[in-house]
Amino acid sequence: MLTPKSSLSRRNLLKGAGGLALAAPLGRAQEAGKKADTGPTTSTAEDRDRRMQWWHEARFGMFIHFGLYSQLGQHEWAMEEEGIPVAEYQLLARQFNPKPHAARAWAKLAKTAGMKYMVMTTKHHEGYCLFDTKLTDYCAPKQAAGRDLVAEYLEAAKAEGLRFGFYYSLMDWHHPDGARCLTDEAARRRFVDYIHGQVRELCGNYGKVDVLWYDVNWPLTAEGWESEKMNRMVRRLQPDILINNRAGIPEDFTTPEQHIQAYDYPWESCMTMNDSWGFNTGDDNWKSPKTIVRNLLTCTRDHGNYLLNIGPKGDGSIPEPSVQALTAVGKWMDTHGELIHKADRCKVRSSEMCAFTRQGNTLFVHTYFWPGEAVAVGGLKNKVLSAKMYHGGEAVKFEQSEWRVKFSGLPAHAPDALATTIAVECDGEPDQDMHAIRVHRKRESV
Ligand code: GLC
Repeated sequence: MLTPKSSLSRRNLLKGAGGLALAAPLGRAQEAGKKADTGPTTSTAEDRDRRMQWWHEARFGMFIHFGLYSQLGQHEWAMEEEGIPVAEYQLLARQFNPKPHAARAWAKLAKTAGMKYMVMTTKHHEGYCLFDTKLTDYCAPKQAAGRDLVAEYLEAAKAEGLRFGFYYSLMDWHHPDGARCLTDEAARRRFVDYIHGQVRELCGNYGKVDVLWYDVNWPLTAEGWESEKMNRMVRRLQPDILINNRAGIPEDFTTPEQHIQAYDYPWESCMTMNDSWGFNTGDDNWKSPKTIVRNLLTCTRDHGNYLLNIGPKGDGSIPEPSVQALTAVGKWMDTHGELIHKADRCKVRSSEMCAFTRQGNTLFVHTYFWPGEAVAVGGLKNKVLSAKMYHGGEAVKFEQSEWRVKFSGLPAHAPDALATTIAVECDGEPDQDMHAIRVHRKRESV
């Protein structure tokens, strides 16, 4: 996750809520229940709970970054970071013509991976729109593509039974008023009308939309964007939609980026599979399937969602390392998906070998670094009633003493290479106290 420092800080400056951050180490380090921003929202808590039920269960989604930058293969920030003149950059729209229905392969891969929803960039910072808009000619149907790529995307998601959302960047490097709106009121008026008009098109022309995922609200504040008015319009058009926090209003969920952080509010960690959202030929820093499963388990433990990105190439095809990793994750999800989708928040969190999730009084111990033959968990506060292999169902021997429960008689090699799961039935909601071990475990040997 090494993004050059200068671009990191520059991007942070450019961002509203949900700043780019370095990936936190996995495992015990995350602190649970951080306070989310509070403030006005255009919905009520009760209505939010109703609308978000599917999303909490879905848990795992696919983010798709697709646009003109996909042809360049140099990250989706190339236009700004390389200072490419607008007149030069926009020529890319004359060539951008992905193969028909490329989105079908994305949706199939999402389903194979055990994901339940997709969120695609309908307009990224570059300003090019993948949807049909009356408000600019800089859009797929009026340029070389000659068709509505958002319509293809949602048709593909629906065909696989997936929910779908629209990512929409408020920041716009192409629109003439995209920067001067900060200092020129007439420009702000025009630009805000343009943005609201496009959001109205997205929410009005495609039937039911599940998620509206705003991004980067530079250079205005929520007030300048008239975000409250915009979101009230969105909710009138789409009464069940979920809206993220990046138009400067907390709304339905918060969006930690490139790291996992639990909040006391609905949250979704979005992450790349390498270090780039848009296709980047040179970026070979791919996450392994095991890292992806660990990240998903960490989100699950703390009742958050994991939105994992693919950056298709200009023709719409998915980079092979993403296909391979998501296919491997999907094999694991075939046998463990139920645990992910039906999990309750889990208080047990400390181990360098295992991740934990919970359903009722059952603790699931997911060992990703398999020690062979025996696996131990410290500090469990509950009495263990029974233990079995989750996948396969064989009973697992265990011994419980004051500070430790030890599962033994296990195979020498991990039965599930990504994470092997033992289901541990406890006498109450599983909880762990590591502090007690450190303080009270007797120092003298017996
Ligand atoms: C950041 C980046 C952007 C990416 C987004 C995903 O805001 O600027 O390129 O789309 O993160 O969350």
